[in-house]
Amino acid sequence: MYNTDDGRWDALWVNARIATMGAATGYGTIEDGALAVKDGRIAFVGRADTLPGLPETLAATIHDAGGLWMTPGLIDCHTHLVYAGTRAREFEMRLKGKSYADIARAGGGILSTVKATRAASEQELYAQSEKRLQRLLAEGVTTVEIKSGYGLDLDSELKMLRVARNLGKHYPVTVKTSFLGAHAVPPEFAGNAEGYVTQLCDVMLPAVAELADAVDGFCESIGFSAKQMERVFAAARAQGLRVKLHAEQLSDQGGAALAAKHNALSADHLEYLSEAGVRAMAEAGTVAVLLPGAFYYLKETKLPPVAVLRAAGVPMALATDCNPGTSPVTSLLLMLNMGCLLFGLTPEEALAGVTRHAARALGMAQDAGTLEEGKRADFVLWDIEHPSELCAQLGGNPAKVIVKEGVVRR
Ligand code: NIG
Ligand code: FE
Repeated sequence: MYNTDDGRWDALWVNARIATMGAATGYGTIEDGALAVKDGRIAFVGRADTLPGLPETLAATIHDAGGLWMTPGLIDCHTHLVYAGTRAREFEMRLKGKSYADIARAGGGILSTVKATRAASEQELYAQSEKRLQRLLAEGVTTVEIKSGYGLDLDSELKMLRVARNLGKHYPVTVKTSFLGAHAVPPEFAGNAEGYVTQLCDVMLPAVAELADAVDGFCESIGFSAKQMERVFAAARAQGLRVKLHAEQLSDQGGAALAAKHNALSADHLEYLSEAGVRAMAEAGTVAVLLPGAFYYLKETKLPPVAVLRAAGVPMALATDCNPGTSPVTSLLLMLNMGCLLFGLTPEEALAGVTRHAARALGMAQDAGTLEEGKRADFVLWDIEHPSELCAQLGGNPAKVIVKEGVVRR
């Protein structure tokens, strides 16, 4: 690395093998690639021999990527990483034969994390959540979505959303928040889901709207019905917020079609998705967010209809679903492997699922997810021989250099 005096660009990276992830299929590979950064955005990406001059004359700082592979920064588009406590005891119960739904109905599950999260101070909640974020970031994540939904009263939901936003201020990561008040019926409204939905729509949603980028829900027999979610989505629209939905995780509730009807950014999980649901998503352009960590952790056997989604042209994203109950996962790279081996994605599809399609699932397709001029200069240099290696290996961490908005963070 060396400096020039009067460069046009802030920085220029040369000698990289670039997987832009910008092509409709494949990795969008550029051999002997160069990428320039100006004001935190990508100012040039292409083959080094198409640069408009000698590198030294073009940028203030030249970085030699040493032949490493460069990809867009990874995007984890579905997490619940802000929470307190653990649910390891439930893991034991499930090993002894109780199901996730049994535990939830008995007052455990989400509600046990609600208890711990309500009890935690904002500082404690931040400290516990920060550790999980650090692990995600170490593997090259530069954008993360974080949901509320373990507070379920106004103050606790606000506390969660503030923690999420503050993490984004203190770490080199873009945080997108989703208000998930419709995650479970809180104890104060036991037996009165309708009453809770009313409170959620009339009081909570308007009060959290400033801290939320989108509105999510859990449409399930142990969560909220499609009818109830419809009320929540209408309230979201009144606040000008896009929606998304945990849909068809444990049963087919018609959630994905409902989400599509409301122009949702994504429908997530989708193991029990019907063909009609796939068609509705395809027509609306709703992203399918697949969560192999939860599939694995719940020992689910029903697979999401990947072949049908692929044939219908529904973009498929992959995410950790980082949460204490069904997916205590802080490795997006592990999800690449599971997406391939458990769900049958190709490595190209899996990588697009944590870059291009994940960006779209967050409404950020203009800004992130591929290495293209004008987008944020969020990228990772990997010590690998081919991008498929990111999917093929288990454990280990080949991330060598992580750049967030043009600045080297590691
Ligand atoms: O995405 N399905 C609902 N929400 C989470 C699980 C939350 C929990 O069990 O704490 C999920 O799997
Ligand atoms: Fe989830």
